[in-house]
Amino acid sequence: MTVTSAIQCRGLWKIFDTGAARVIALQNLSLDIAAGEFVTLVGASGCGKSTLLRTLAGLETYTAGQIECCGVPLRGPGVERAMVFQHYSLYPWLTVSENIKFTRKLAAHTRDRTSADVEAAAGRADALLQLMGLVDVAKAYPNQLSGGMQQRVAIARALMSRPRILLMDEPFGALDAQTREVMHDLILHVSRLEGCTVVFVTHDVEEAIYLGRRVILLAPRPGRIDCEYAVPLPAQREQHMKHAPAFLELKTRILERIRVTSGMRTDAALLERLSRGSRQHAADRGGA
Ligand SMILES: Nc1ncnc2c1ncn2[C@@H]1O[C@H](COP(=O)(O)OP(=O)(O)OP(=O)(O)O)[C@@H](O)[C@H]1O
Ligand SMILES: [Mg+2]
Repeated sequence: MTVTSAIQCRGLWKIFDTGAARVIALQNLSLDIAAGEFVTLVGASGCGKSTLLRTLAGLETYTAGQIECCGVPLRGPGVERAMVFQHYSLYPWLTVSENIKFTRKLAAHTRDRTSADVEAAAGRADALLQLMGLVDVAKAYPNQLSGGMQQRVAIARALMSRPRILLMDEPFGALDAQTREVMHDLILHVSRLEGCTVVFVTHDVEEAIYLGRRVILLAPRPGRIDCEYAVPLPAQREQHMKHAPAFLELKTRILERIRVTSGMRTDAALLERLSRGSRQHAADRGGA
């Protein structure tokens, strides 16, 4: 493995065996993500995107294969990785500022031994409040914030421990379109500034292309990598690029491929057969 690799998976399998059913969520998956890269994962529902992300976070065991994060074999969760979920998962009884500092506080007993460490952590929290535009709401509670603000708090909290890898599972899925656009530019800015690697799962192909330098498409049943696309846009993204011919052409290609891999074409053919059948049935009844 090269030193510039953030994540390397080799022959990764994840099988859920519930007794009643055996689901191959990830089949022989191999993947390399370079340090500092912003990669997006798309694919039909159930293709294993969340399973892959949770496995990379160390929240899920895997059945076979190898994973290395920052050159070290993965063994459960680690401080070099942080995860952001679709639902903000903030602590409702803590203020914005306390939410951001919370994980740091947990670590305080073991790692922040000196007052300089504690001071540095407080400085980091303040810097993140600034960066995420949360200074004015630092003392507010999560239920007093909009969805976009809550998600900014969740991202700030994830960044608190300076993770080298940020794993995001549909983090903007619950936000309205305008707020999402603002969040897109913010997360691009933040990831560049922090220099972290981002693996970002989304259902939204436009979001995947706008954010990712590379879009990886997973296919379902069994979950596997189907193909990947390099995004032909300048690194510095701007909203108007969403209307560029290269952007729209890639969006069409990816959507079409998701349709094919999800079997939706078969469904369309089935619907056509069914409607032909019912037309025939109606005609037969009309003729009787
Ligand atoms: N804990 C579990 N036990 C059994 N099967 C599971 C479990 N978690 C996920 N699966 C199965 O693994 C497969 C992949 O699920 P996963 O949640 O990773 O898909 P996904 O791509 O994230 O889907 P979505 O886009 O709907 O979020 C699915 O068939 C799912 O039913
Ligand atoms: Mg999912």
